[in-house]
Amino acid sequence: MDAQGLRDAYVNFFKERGHTYIRSASLIPENDPTVLFTTAGMHPLVPYLLGEKHPGGKRLVNFQKCIRTGDIEEVGDDSHLTFFEMLGNWSLGDYFKKESIRFSYDLLKDVLNIKRDQLAVTAFEGEEGIPKDTETARHWKDLGFRDDQIFFYGRKDNWWGPAGQTGPCGPDTEIFFDNGKKKCGPKCGPACKCGKYTEIWNNVFMQYNKDKDGKFVPLAQKNVDTGMGLERTLCFVNGLKNVYETSLFTGIIGKLEELSGKKYSDDIRSFRIVADHLRASTFLLGDGVVPSKMGQGYILRRLIRRASRYMSKLGIEGVNMQKISEVIVSEYSAAYPELENNKDSIYAQITAEEEKFHRTLNKGLRRFDEMISESGEKKELDGESVFRLYDTYGFPIELTQELAAEKGFTVCIADFENRFKEHQEKSRAGSDQVFKGGLADASEQTTRLHTATHLLNAALKRFVDPNIHQKGSNITAERLRFDFNLDRKVEPEELKKIEDFVNEVINANIPVVCEEIPYEEAQKRHAEGVFQCKYGEIVKVYSIGDVSVELCGGPHVKNTGEIGSFKIMKEESSAAGVRRIKAVVE
Ligand code: ALA
Repeated sequence: MDAQGLRDAYVNFFKERGHTYIRSASLIPENDPTVLFTTAGMHPLVPYLLGEKHPGGKRLVNFQKCIRTGDIEEVGDDSHLTFFEMLGNWSLGDYFKKESIRFSYDLLKDVLNIKRDQLAVTAFEGEEGIPKDTETARHWKDLGFRDDQIFFYGRKDNWWGPAGQTGPCGPDTEIFFDNGKKKCGPKCGPACKCGKYTEIWNNVFMQYNKDKDGKFVPLAQKNVDTGMGLERTLCFVNGLKNVYETSLFTGIIGKLEELSGKKYSDDIRSFRIVADHLRASTFLLGDGVVPSKMGQGYILRRLIRRASRYMSKLGIEGVNMQKISEVIVSEYSAAYPELENNKDSIYAQITAEEEKFHRTLNKGLRRFDEMISESGEKKELDGESVFRLYDTYGFPIELTQELAAEKGFTVCIADFENRFKEHQEKSRAGSDQVFKGGLADASEQTTRLHTATHLLNAALKRFVDPNIHQKGSNITAERLRFDFNLDRKVEPEELKKIEDFVNEVINANIPVVCEEIPYEEAQKRHAEGVFQCKYGEIVKVYSIGDVSVELCGGPHVKNTGEIGSFKIMKEESSAAGVRRIKAVVE
């Protein structure tokens, strides 16, 4: 069975049972500003799960494009994908547990030819205020499931949602494919990661709405929300070991083999990363996302850049992403016509972003050469330098290692890995914040504004008065506010010069270098903001080329290019002899 065959079989099965087919919604959620992307089929249906009438009626079915970006760095292994498709059926206050379980079992048995003995199921074990879901277990037993095929788990495993901060949620029953291998121990069950069980389908019994105060309020209507991963199902229906072996990826990987002259088996991880990331990127561009420094556009940029690095690793030189996008557009447009409709802009954007990244990469190569000459006799690149190449210039560690080896150098891997882990934890916490805090990632935005403040401070000294110093600073996610000593107004022409200068520095992509040095050393370098430190105290100094040296706790961007365009919104008096500037970055 190929992908379209599975999509059709699923939709038809539920159409025959009174469900209305609805088209996949956009990857950009319309009804939930607390998440960046549509992460499940239920997402576009939130208003209807909460009680609004759906024009298609009370039974719906579809396949929905989804993106989950919690673990981008893990893509390349056997199980992680950023873009995936979810097959789903819904009851909006119509049927409930019994019929939902029956439908799922019949489809698995009659359409996908899976035997009852190849399945295991789970149900919610209950907690204070919410009873154990024995009803679900009874329905499975009525269909002939043995007790040893039914497992009870707690909230971690058998509760779904809400998708964002608030919304519909409830206990679920999950259906697993059991590959028949021996249990790995007495506790082995569907929650075990030993590989015996693979999740196929999740049926959520949405009975609650989590409100803004974190309370679970029973819903007026009892809904069913189900989700089956298309890629994974296609994989085991066809007896394949991995999603990348399915028809969904054959064309993409074939094209990559042709462009690289390599075989998939030569470098499985790189092939997978490029295939996954360009599939996600093509779909995001098809939904109108543009690469940028913020929100969805930032994730898109990360995906394209990571794909580019791994294309080079595969030996694919030059500008080639459009060729992969063309395969994706041609293979997926029957199911997702928006790709065909928007293909011109998809190709134009992906090519522009690829070219832009190649330029950054070239800068990174120059920095690499400098690092080699700076490290003299040591013949080893330290973790910090290697991490900077990774973080600022997007160099994968493997690339740095290869380049270093060519010069007879080694790389301090342990140090790099520590820094990498720290960064991963931070960025995971960051992406959680995006999901928790809505579209604008406040922490990223304030970081940009922090660095912009240093540039503003330097520009004021340069164009207005060298004796200007900071008298106060306040930064929110929206704007910076900077107070400084001056006993006159800053003239509009001066403001224009300041703005232009800051933007020039931003456009020059200057690295922001952080050093921890003794206070006296910072004074010698005339670091701005040298206040009352003790003798010998180690302070953090941020330098931006020859534009600014400032003592500061951070956080700052790694490169001025990350700041965005700088705009002064207001200049006014703050107190006697103190002026105030408010500015934004976009
Ligand atoms: N919304 C449920 C899930 O994503 C079906 O697993």
